Amino acid sequence: MDKLKGSAEFIRKLFPGRIDIGIVLGSGLGDMAEDVEDAVVISYHDIPGFPVSTAPGHKGRLIIGKLEGKTVLCMQGRFHYYEGWSMQEVVYPIRVMRLLGIGDLLLTNAAGCVNTGWKAGDLMIIEDHIKLIADNPLRGPNPDSLGPRFFDMTHAYDKELVRLAEAKAAECSINVRKGVYMFFAGPSFETPAEIRFARLAGADAVGMSTVPEAIAASHMGMRTLGISCLTNMAAGILDQKLNHEEVLETGNRVRKDFSALVRNIIASWPQS
Ligand code: HPA
Repeated sequence: MDKLKGSAEFIRKLFPGRIDIGIVLGSGLGDMAEDVEDAVVISYHDIPGFPVSTAPGHKGRLIIGKLEGKTVLCMQGRFHYYEGWSMQEVVYPIRVMRLLGIGDLLLTNAAGCVNTGWKAGDLMIIEDHIKLIADNPLRGPNPDSLGPRFFDMTHAYDKELVRLAEAKAAECSINVRKGVYMFFAGPSFETPAEIRFARLAGADAVGMSTVPEAIAASHMGMRTLGISCLTNMAAGILDQKLNHEEVLETGNRVRKDFSALVRNIIASWPQS
């Protein structure tokens, strides 16, 4: 808790004002942070207690400023379980956001498309998630001042924000899907059999992020919206191998739609 408070105090000194929304930018989507106006840029290296990301395509800095009239804190680069961080470390920045008084969270990611009726390049609003691996960011002593030991996940992905995202997508003529995101630890992509299992389990997309963050956010009572960029068909659907370049390329291809959607959502984001 003291470490978290130290990180939050460091950021608050550099940006004392109220922040409306925390945003986590996924693989290939980090450029959106360049649109933030009057930005205060803070490298993760400089924040006491903060982890420092190593994933390709992730930069590792906080960008705080104005986007569509709201004050946002963007994470350009997140922490993944596959990098070797513990789940607690993965969600550390989300906890810092909460200590900074941020009540709303927008999580974005690149994900593999499991739903065979959809295609690479589609955007998906996350309605719910599946995490079958045993680890959990809340495992261990409960930080009572942040949230309760046992807590409800029924509204982990805020229904009002899902409706808002759908409405904004329609307004911008962006074809958006809604579905279930299933967490896999990575860094190996899933096997075709795992993808068949994910589909049977009810997943529409698979990925290596977002779920720990959504759990921590729910624990702390934050309202969360999740949007996936489905960068590739998941393993075994097409007769081709998966690679990270395809993930980044598709991210690039849909960047315009993605950022238009995110900006429109932020512009109409309801005050908490
Ligand atoms: N699987 C897991 N994570 C991913 C994928 C995938 O196919 N694509 C982008 N992130």
